[in-house]
Amino acid sequence: MEKNLHKAMNEQIRNELYSAYLYLSMAAYCESKNLPGIAHWLKVQAKEEVSHAMKFFEFMVDVGAEIKLLAIDQPPADFSSVTDIFEKTLEHEKKVTAMINNLVNLAQKAGDHPSMVMLQWFVNEQVEEEKNASQILETLKMIKEQGPAIVMLDRELGKREG
Ligand code: FEO
Repeated sequence: MEKNLHKAMNEQIRNELYSAYLYLSMAAYCESKNLPGIAHWLKVQAKEEVSHAMKFFEFMVDVGAEIKLLAIDQPPADFSSVTDIFEKTLEHEKKVTAMINNLVNLAQKAGDHPSMVMLQWFVNEQVEEEKNASQILETLKMIKEQGPAIVMLDRELGKREG
């Protein structure tokens, strides 16, 4: 695998695992605020992020690219509200989208077709990731985290499968 692409893909394993860590930290905050449904949604999200890291891991194994696991940063724990959490989620997913786009650019530059095909899955996934975070954020802004509405949103997000 081309040097820059290889480095960025290795880093992306760490980035996806950091995402899992970030969402788990957000889930812990929601548990402490007695919002188990939103915490559940975030825990499912954290599991998805681990599966994203594993997709990169397995792909690198398949193409014979050496894997070097990097240190994962401590995620923030100082959230001020559920709206704050979903603002940060959307912001974070936009950053991940930029990372995926960068990987696609590197793969294209290297003429690495297997990587380009694999990365297409992530391009589509990021559209979903940003859409989900943005929809929940819009709902939170509408209900202003008030009484019955936040309880209903908590129940709704508690139904996420995974
Ligand atoms: Fe793995 Fe949320 O992007």
